[in-house]
Amino acid sequence: MAHMLELREGFQLNYDNLMADRIGALGIREDEILKVPRLNSAINAMRALRQKGQVRGHDETVLFTRLPYQAVDGEYMQRIRQWGKDVRQNYRWVVSLGIGGSFLGNQVLLDAGRSPYWNNLPPEKECPRIFFAGNNVDPATIHDLDRILSLPETMFIVISKSGTTTETMAAFLHFYQRVTEGGLEPARHFTAVTDPEQGLLLEIAREKGFPVFQVPRGVGGRWSVLSDAGLMIAEVAGLNCQELLQGARQMDQVCQRESILENPGYLYAVLCNLFYRKSDIHEVVLMPYCDALKSFAQWYVQLLAESLGKERDRKGRLVHEGRTPIAALGTTDMHAQTQQHREGRRNKLLTTIAIRDFGKKEIRLPTGSDLSGKLPFIAGQSFSHILDAARRANEEALAADGRPSCCVSLPCLSEFTLGQLFYFFEIATAFEGELLNVNAFNQPGVEHYKKIMKKILDGSH
Ligand code: PA5
Repeated sequence: MAHMLELREGFQLNYDNLMADRIGALGIREDEILKVPRLNSAINAMRALRQKGQVRGHDETVLFTRLPYQAVDGEYMQRIRQWGKDVRQNYRWVVSLGIGGSFLGNQVLLDAGRSPYWNNLPPEKECPRIFFAGNNVDPATIHDLDRILSLPETMFIVISKSGTTTETMAAFLHFYQRVTEGGLEPARHFTAVTDPEQGLLLEIAREKGFPVFQVPRGVGGRWSVLSDAGLMIAEVAGLNCQELLQGARQMDQVCQRESILENPGYLYAVLCNLFYRKSDIHEVVLMPYCDALKSFAQWYVQLLAESLGKERDRKGRLVHEGRTPIAALGTTDMHAQTQQHREGRRNKLLTTIAIRDFGKKEIRLPTGSDLSGKLPFIAGQSFSHILDAARRANEEALAADGRPSCCVSLPCLSEFTLGQLFYFFEIATAFEGELLNVNAFNQPGVEHYKKIMKKILDGSH
């Protein structure tokens, strides 16, 4: 592969199919990479972010780059580990209440760290079933969850940085009522994860004596998966948090390299940004070829949409910035979206995610079945080989028509590579915010509708 950045641990960014010598006119020439506008100021801005947590035009400090290093603080991790152990030993059901950044990353941790079928697999000792709620206000889902849970054996984790989000607090109020009317002690059934200094959830948690963990100051929802908000679910699911954070740390280190061509996060951001600036590429499809990463694409949708989708740049100019992210799943969505990706408007950049080794979960199709002879194109093949053939075929078909794609390839799916993956996309997004000169850390558009919704609900609208 001519254009590939590979890390020692096996993480690869293959971008051959973004280059002009491969896909023609729409593609990028090598000399364009280092000439992307605002490159030096973006590098300097990221340095200030890392060193001082400073982001121009943003009132709070931004501290997500510190999260991978917190594992080094043994005492800090000890409290989460102890809490996780208590929950694993004493509860059969865990329900994580949260929405947006307080939900999406946690779903990924469960799906990728364990399995999308986790709740249906034969139970393992000390591994509770894990459900998510509070990510909508659909009564039917809450109703059905009520039927599943046995409350004396359920721990609810209420995650909200602001402590006031309607969906989360509605689910909390519902389950709190059920726990209390069941004669149970709420402090044994609720744990809060919220801002360490303020907010309604913190107030309630203190009043009711719930254990409290934090979404640290300076860490916004969509950047919080490596904070307590994600680590607690990871602990309950029995994942190795040290490995998760170690993967993110390793990615943080390589994403500090000065040379863009050696820095995966910056390189990916620059490549996407070049397409965005010089062509009509205003949509980006993230397509993991792995069911366990389906929710990862949804996590990324939030990260990109809320971070780069901005009305104004830092100079106050009306820019209506940002690409539209689209979550897809390979091969499933090749039978749904690919027709449009291949023949629709030339406004999409596809990023695939490949897993090279499925380890113990690999399955090989038989050669000795009485049907094998009727299916010679798949008999004897491993499922992962077929999966990879589909990905390569998709990328090649797009390239043949001059359409851009690139691939993030992981040697396997583990806590370490998951930590790398989360952090890679976080750095790339923060860096692209600087290339675009927008504040990637606020979400005024979300706040706006939240205020209107509250008024509608309290009747003052
Ligand atoms: O990224 C963000 O900040 C938002 O999407 C939030 O995560 C989401 O609105 C939930 O907010 P909170 O954690 O305050 O309940």
